[in-house]
Amino acid sequence: MGNDLITQAAQRVAELKAYFVDHERFVPLAEGFSILAEKRLVDIQTGRISEAQGLALSGHSGAGKSAAITHLLAQERQRLADQGYGDSTIISLRVPSPATLKFVGQMLLRALGYPIGADRHAWYIWDLVQHHLKERRVLFVHLDEAQDLASRGTKHELDSVTSMLKTLMTDPEWPVGIILSGTNELEDILNHDHQLARRMRTVRFESLSPAAYGDDILDLLENYCELAQLEPEDDVLELSHGERVVHAAANQFGIAIVLILDAIEDAYLHGQKTLNRHNFIRAYHRRTSCDAEFNPFVVPDFMRIHARQVFSRENRT
Ligand SMILES: Nc1ncnc2c1ncn2[C@@H]1O[C@H](COP(=O)(O)OP(=O)(O)O)[C@@H](O)[C@H]1O
Ligand SMILES: [Mg+2]
Repeated sequence: MGNDLITQAAQRVAELKAYFVDHERFVPLAEGFSILAEKRLVDIQTGRISEAQGLALSGHSGAGKSAAITHLLAQERQRLADQGYGDSTIISLRVPSPATLKFVGQMLLRALGYPIGADRHAWYIWDLVQHHLKERRVLFVHLDEAQDLASRGTKHELDSVTSMLKTLMTDPEWPVGIILSGTNELEDILNHDHQLARRMRTVRFESLSPAAYGDDILDLLENYCELAQLEPEDDVLELSHGERVVHAAANQFGIAIVLILDAIEDAYLHGQKTLNRHNFIRAYHRRTSCDAEFNPFVVPDFMRIHARQVFSRENRT
């Protein structure tokens, strides 16, 4: 394996990673979001003030939530900039740890471009947050890994953060739409806080089942092969291979893509013109260090292998 091959493989895979798969599950999310955005823009144009609404996206780790929201927000930012709304219409950040009222406020201020020391009171920080959101005409604030609002802080902190989010959404002068994405525990937060839930549209990225999605994933694999300019061999076009990919990906759409890209990278590294099952076997092994007997691309009864434990570690970013 020469250095040239490695550099080339890295470049080509980086290009493939930049590609966003517009899966059907993306549609309800995109629609939900454009309705929110349109409502808000109409209010601004007509000088009306009504409460902003929000959107919550839940799903297992690796489902593709962050990728989908990042793609959606980039599109929307561009659209809003083209329409003359400026380039700071959407702020996006990961919920910090610890998720205290003060720390979340501080991170938000930093994302707004106004870092501030920790020696201030929470109420002072949030006053500034509200001020700058309005000043900079921010329409949406997105918090990723929003389930961490509940897991790290105390119950009291969770209540104060959610009530602050509601305050932002109902601001009498400049209401801001809140977008939350996170694992299924995010739903617990919303179930717990009905006032917040009432203002949020919710979308869930369901897990895939090998039986129902094996075929779908084969289509995806073929598309990636085309992009990658690799010919798929027969052994990766069998329905059972699609099912193996879904299962190895712990039924998560995003992880299935990662597995396919890993296999493609392996094929590049071996200077191949085709993609075959051995690329999947090696790619899975490289990522998990699992022996062949735990490799779902090797064993016949692959359904007995628990893929989630293997992947869940690294997917929490
Ligand atoms: N629609 C998509 N198109 C291309 N790649 C995707 C897509 N969705 C997910 N991925 C890939 O899957 C990985 C995991 O998805 P991610 O969005 O981080 O999952 P989640 O946020 O739900 O844990 C991402 O790093 C990305 O490489
Ligand atoms: Mg994520």
